[in-house]
Amino acid sequence: MAPKVLDLFCGAGGFSLGFHRAGFEVVGAIDYEPAALETFRLHHDTLAVPADLSRLLDDGGPTGEDLLDLVGLTPADVDVVIGGPPCQGYSQSSDRDPDDPINDLVWTFLEVVEAADAHAFAMENVPGLLEHKGGETMAALVECADSLGYNVAYEVLNAADFEVPQNRHRVIFFGVRGGEPTHPEPLGGEPIPVQEALSQVTGELLPDNEWTDHRPTTVEKIAQLNVGESLHGKHRQVRLDPTKPARTITASNRHIHPFEDRELSIRECAVLQSFPPTYDFAGWENRDARTRQVGNAVPPKLAEHIAYALLKSLWEVTDRVPTDSVRTSSKQIAGPTGRLTEREVEATLLRAGGLTWEQVGDEMGITYKTASTHYYRAREKAEMARETFAVFERLNLGERD
Ligand SMILES: C[S@@+](CC[C@H](N)C(=O)[O-])C[C@H]1O[C@@H](n2cnc3c(N)ncnc32)[C@H](O)[C@@H]1O
Repeated sequence: MAPKVLDLFCGAGGFSLGFHRAGFEVVGAIDYEPAALETFRLHHDTLAVPADLSRLLDDGGPTGEDLLDLVGLTPADVDVVIGGPPCQGYSQSSDRDPDDPINDLVWTFLEVVEAADAHAFAMENVPGLLEHKGGETMAALVECADSLGYNVAYEVLNAADFEVPQNRHRVIFFGVRGGEPTHPEPLGGEPIPVQEALSQVTGELLPDNEWTDHRPTTVEKIAQLNVGESLHGKHRQVRLDPTKPARTITASNRHIHPFEDRELSIRECAVLQSFPPTYDFAGWENRDARTRQVGNAVPPKLAEHIAYALLKSLWEVTDRVPTDSVRTSSKQIAGPTGRLTEREVEATLLRAGGLTWEQVGDEMGITYKTASTHYYRAREKAEMARETFAVFERLNLGERD
C-alpha cells in the first residue's frame, strides 16, 4: 500500500507529480481555479475538486472535516497533506500587504492537516513567509503544528540544487508525527543550464509552444538586450543566460529567450520548471491562465526530492510505509505509466522510420496532431520508466523483481 496524499491548492499539479513519481498515491486534490483543475485532471487519475479554501476561515463556515467529505475521504484515507498556499502576500514580486486575507490561507492548510489527522505534511511557500510580520507568522505556524503533535522543520531550498534548470528559492515546511523531518540534501554537481533544458523543446507540435507575435518595435527593443538585461526593468522579462540555470519563472512574467528575440513560450517556461515536455496545460483560450499555472507550480523535480525525504522520515515512524509498500507503489508507477499502448508503439515506429507527422497520421488513419501526441506520450512513459528505476537506486532497495 502506497502512502496516500491529499494536495491542497493543487494548481496544475507540479507538487503532486513529484509525490506520485516518488511512490505516493495522490488520493485527492483541491483548488478553486477551473483551468488549473482541468490541467490537474489531465495528468492525475484522482478526484480533483473545486472549492474555495478561504471559506474554512468563515465563522460557521465549512470545516476541515466538511472539506475531506467533499473529496470523499476520511482521515483513514490520508497519510500526508501537501500544499502550496498562495504566496502573493509574502512574495517579493508583489507589493506586499501584510494583512492581505490571502495570507491566512496557510492556516486553512493546517486546519485540514488536523482534520485529516495526517502522519505528516509538507507545505511550500516563498521565503518571504519567514519574514512576514517580523517572523511572527512562521513562529505561530510552528507553534500550531507543534501543538497538533508534529515535529517540524523548515528550510529554504533552491530548485537548481535538485535537477531543476532554474534558480527558485522556496521554503519547505515539514511536519512529521513521531519522527524527525529531514530536508533533502542538495545533489551537488553542476546545475542544469538553460540551453540544455530548452533543447528538449523541439518542434512546434509540442503543446503550449506557440510563440508570441511581438510588434516590430518590441522585437527591435528585445534585439538590443544582452544577457541579464530586462525589457521592462524590475527583473521582468530578462534575457536569460544560456549557460546558467534560469531566473525564477513566475506566474505573470515570461523571460526573454537566450538566443531569439522573443519571450519564452509557455512550453519553454514549463520545461524550465522541470515539467515533462508533453505535460499540457488546460485553458487554450487564456494564455495568462496557462502562464500562471506554470509559474505557480512546485517544480516536479524539486517536489520529487521533497517526497523522497519525507518518505524516509515517514518510513522510520509508521508501518504505513514499510519497505514493501515502496516496492508496490513503484510498481504502480511502472504499471500505468510504463506500458505503451498499441497506438503509441505504432506512432513511435513510424516516426522512427523517418515519416513526417502527416505521413504518420495518414498511415494510422488519424490526424497528425493525434499521431504526435501518441509519440510524445510514449517518450514520456519511457522517461517515467527510467525514473522508476532511479527511485530504487536512490532508496537503495536493490533490483526490481
Ligand atoms: C502556488 S499555487 C499552487 C501550485 C501547485 N502546488 C503546483 O505545484 O502546481 C496556489 C494555488 O492556490 C489556488 N488558490 C488560491 N486561493 C485559493 C482559495 N481561496 N481556495 C482554493 N484554491 C486557491 C490557486 O488557484 C493556485 O492554483
